[in-house]
Amino acid sequence: MAMATLRGDLILTLVVLVVSTFVLHPCAAHQKQPGCTFEAIYTFGDSTSDTGNLYNEPAGFANRAGRLPYGINYPTKTPTGRWTNGLVMSDLFASAFSLPSPKPYLGTDKDFKSGVNFAVAWATALDTPVLAKFNIPHWYTDSSLLVQVSWFETYIASICSNKTDCKKKLENSIFVVGDIGSIDYTSAKLRHLNSLRVAALTPLIAKTIAQGVQRLIDHGASRIIVSGSLPVGCLTSNLDFSRSNYSRAYDEFGCLKSLNSFAANHNTQLQKALEGVRAKNPEVTLLYGDAFKSYQEILHNAERYGLTKNNTLNACCGAPWKEYNYDQFSLCGIVNTTVCSEPEKYLNWDGTSLTQNGYNRVVNWILHQLTPFLKCNNAPKPIKKPISIAN
Ligand SMILES: *[C@@H]1O[C@H](CO)[C@@H](O)[C@H](O)[C@H]1NC(C)=O
Ligand SMILES: *[C@@H]1O[C@H](CO)[C@@H](O)[C@H](O)[C@H]1NC(C)=O
Ligand SMILES: *[C@@H]1O[C@H](CO)[C@@H](O)[C@H](O)[C@H]1NC(C)=O
Ligand SMILES: *[C@@H]1O[C@H](CO)[C@@H](O)[C@H](O)[C@H]1NC(C)=O
Repeated sequence: MAMATLRGDLILTLVVLVVSTFVLHPCAAHQKQPGCTFEAIYTFGDSTSDTGNLYNEPAGFANRAGRLPYGINYPTKTPTGRWTNGLVMSDLFASAFSLPSPKPYLGTDKDFKSGVNFAVAWATALDTPVLAKFNIPHWYTDSSLLVQVSWFETYIASICSNKTDCKKKLENSIFVVGDIGSIDYTSAKLRHLNSLRVAALTPLIAKTIAQGVQRLIDHGASRIIVSGSLPVGCLTSNLDFSRSNYSRAYDEFGCLKSLNSFAANHNTQLQKALEGVRAKNPEVTLLYGDAFKSYQEILHNAERYGLTKNNTLNACCGAPWKEYNYDQFSLCGIVNTTVCSEPEKYLNWDGTSLTQNGYNRVVNWILHQLTPFLKCNNAPKPIKKPISIAN
């Protein structure tokens, strides 16, 4: 029950990108050479970015994503530990930069020459001991953002020997800090902390993300995208968990206004924190990925994006006997849940995670916004067509 409820509530925290001011950064140190081909991608975050790390942790239940129907639309049509039907955001960012998907750090394949994925599904932004001070339990993993950053530091120490050397190794790399923090909020809510106490976590989370980013910079990261929160009031499990009898609780697209405001506030604080990092590191390109706006844009123009309007708030994999196709006691992959026949027409996969199509739309929109600010000759072109989903 706790587990199901947690899943149900998880929606609360999916976060994405918002555009603030961008620091322009010339592509390379030397004017002469275009030099903006990224050699590697390093990714951090939670389930929107994990390509298999949690799968390699002793997390028990977590491995719902290690079983079908998770992965049904992955190229191999097999589960990989990704919490969706196909690819997650880190795969899609990598693909947009013409790089292979970054391998999970904890996986058995240690071929990291084009990058590493440090993201862990269910990861919190705050460290377990910090959460404990708020009497918030951790769930399936202790691999918080700063733990992920420390893995990066261990890794980087193994490939370069001093600051100059590391900077050189990383100057042609792109860093993506995906959604992180939603699990903190969800866990706090499950702990029945009142909304003020949940909101009190936000400045701490924003500060922690900024600290993590600064540590990446200290090791030589020079191009970083940090994703904000999705409009969590539009996510299926939250719509179910926080349902209201009052129509004024919903916006015209059927999303819960209060949860969206919560996410918007998180994003505002995150952007302020990033602004501080930019001020200290003017030579670094630190971009905010506005996942909130991106998701809303897609939702508000569903048909233009090839989605069935009816299904924008519904889970693809879930419980057809319930509204939103979602039952927190019968989650995707367990009991008698079903998978929709056209996942590419849905944004939401299992109530809490997006479909590959949803992630693809969000990533494309964000890169379309951010590409001019990467200032690279061969900057990623916005993908016109979504990556096709294997049938
Ligand atoms: C840093 O490491 C590189 C590569 O090992 C080496 O060539 C260089 O001399 C080192 N620089 C310093 C200041 O130690
Ligand atoms: C909504 O109204 C129904 C019927 O009056 C009631 O049973 C239910 O508890 C209400 N739900 C919420 C979330 O207030
Ligand atoms: C969308 O919802 C409407 C009203 O509930 C229904 O009549 C229609 O068949 C649905 N369309 C699809 C494609 O499911
Ligand atoms: C599927 O689950 C629902 C909800 O628990 C239940 O009402 C229904 O009887 C189940 N159907 C089958 C075939 O098990």
